Amino acid sequence: MITTARIHRLPQVVADAIAAGEVVERPASVVKELLENAIDAGAAHVDVALDGGGLVRIEVVDDGHGIAAEDMDLAVERHATSKIENTTDLTRVRTLGFRGEALASIAAVSNLSIVSRPPANVAGTALRVRTGEVVECVPAAAPPGTRVEVCELFASTPARLRFLRSTSAEGAAAVRVAADLALTHPEVAITCRSEGRQVLRSPGDSLRGALRAVFGPRAAADLVDVDVPGDISITGAISGAHAHRAARTGLVLVVNGRRVQHRALQLAVDEAYRGLIPAGRHPFGVACLDVDPAAVDVNVHPAKREVRFSDERAVFAALQRACWSTLRSSTTYSAAAAAPHRTESAPGSSSVLTLAEAPSRLADAFPQVADASRRLDDLTPLRALGQVDNEWVVARAPGAVVLVDPHAAHEKVLYQELRERWASPHPKQTQTQLLLIPVLLEGDRGREERVERHAEFIASCGFGVDIFGPGVIRCTAVPATSSGVDPERLLAELIDTLDEEPTGDARYHRVAALVACHSAVRFGDRLEPDAQQQLLDRLLRTAGGMTCPHGRPTVIVLDDAYLRRSFHRPSR
Ligand SMILES: Nc1ncnc2c1ncn2[C@@H]1O[C@H](COP(=O)(O)OP(=O)(O)O)[C@@H](O)[C@H]1O
Ligand SMILES: [Mg+2]
Repeated sequence: MITTARIHRLPQVVADAIAAGEVVERPASVVKELLENAIDAGAAHVDVALDGGGLVRIEVVDDGHGIAAEDMDLAVERHATSKIENTTDLTRVRTLGFRGEALASIAAVSNLSIVSRPPANVAGTALRVRTGEVVECVPAAAPPGTRVEVCELFASTPARLRFLRSTSAEGAAAVRVAADLALTHPEVAITCRSEGRQVLRSPGDSLRGALRAVFGPRAAADLVDVDVPGDISITGAISGAHAHRAARTGLVLVVNGRRVQHRALQLAVDEAYRGLIPAGRHPFGVACLDVDPAAVDVNVHPAKREVRFSDERAVFAALQRACWSTLRSSTTYSAAAAAPHRTESAPGSSSVLTLAEAPSRLADAFPQVADASRRLDDLTPLRALGQVDNEWVVARAPGAVVLVDPHAAHEKVLYQELRERWASPHPKQTQTQLLLIPVLLEGDRGREERVERHAEFIASCGFGVDIFGPGVIRCTAVPATSSGVDPERLLAELIDTLDEEPTGDARYHRVAALVACHSAVRFGDRLEPDAQQQLLDRLLRTAGGMTCPHGRPTVIVLDDAYLRRSFHRPSR
């Protein structure tokens, strides 16, 4: 016989534990909520300490405005908050918290104690809660501000514990949360200790300081400041075109002071880097969007990790444009583009890779390589041995092992070929590649005007471009280089760079570098052995082939003397 299950109301502790599950998934969620509360309280300094990955103990100490004695027990009650009053307030949330759930949720699954003192009061209050039950609320001596301690997280909910990863993984996730908040709130000095070791120290003086603390001074130096005002204003710092990462996770997106995960915004940033960095690589840094709070819904995710925009397309476009213009005007990009002959034109120094020119990373990794100043001629014959993970090509030269960056090398080869072609007295002979299907590009007045003004120059570079009709630019041919160019993107970049560049040689350099970059094999593309060898042969025939058009090295030479020294073998 089937018995009908009876329905009954859950005891409050069980209901609370279920609700808590939404907010408090893991130690990192606790750190996030406590840090956010400290920041909402106007703290200038916040110190976080973690033990046992946050499962044994999490402590967050701030110097904010504190909690009044009479509000202490309310603070740990569900849906009790000082941050909003009515539903209209929900549409103009400017604080990080507003749901009034965090402390209640944390209290339901841990032993929580709070000691707080508003700065104007002489004494503070201490509150202790054990798995949801207030066990003590008494006056206490305390410094101004609030100290929250969370012990034995999830001890009463073993099911939850089973879903956690290792203590070190949980600790690392919690530290990442602290790092996120250091970036979104660079004006707050945030420190974090984990297992007694200091792992984060954000000075609280500037975004730069926070970037150095979070990304490390080296990577921070690769970041370019973003500051683009507008209806949707965008600030922050994003990696320059020469720096990129394999993972997407290095990019922190911030909307109105809140870190968010947002696929479309990620794509907007990626789009801006298309053609600048190799396919499959990703930018890093922080992009902070300031959007009218009425146009963002922050109340779509229990842990507030996601947001929804009323006009997502506008936000997407603004972010993409901001990154795009920042990258194109950044010193890293334009300095490289404006100084093409740095290594090629100085007499006597042609084709020589010196320490000063090599990026410091390389110099650090291979200090001995630098003093082996070499010419490409010295490397003949250069035999390709293979490719490492579809990235570097390894080659053998007389008395040396040579590592080649295939994208940089190919870029340089194509660049030099274009330069030579364009320098010929008969530019009409410039080889072009007719497009089977003409590419149409949306034109605005500025773009159309540039196409008309530079018509002759554009044609001399091997492009077939005309104004097809109002608002439409047509492209029927591109310079013949190699296959795989995206003509639309190339054309858009070409037209958009025309205005910035002066005349004469610098302009040809800029366009050649652009076309070469778009046409070259991507870093990460597999090259067949034949193609590897062909690339090396072409590189050897290329003037100034040791550096790419942006001045970065194309090859690194590990000569025999260096290898012998490194392996402690007697020199030959
Ligand atoms: N570190 C703190 N300093 C001052 N007040 C705090 C602090 N942490 C919590 N509070 C107070 O407790 C209330 C409840 O906190 P919480 O449960 O996180 O909800 P919410 O942040 O959504 O309001 C807050 O509204 C705030 O008034
Ligand atoms: Mg809160």
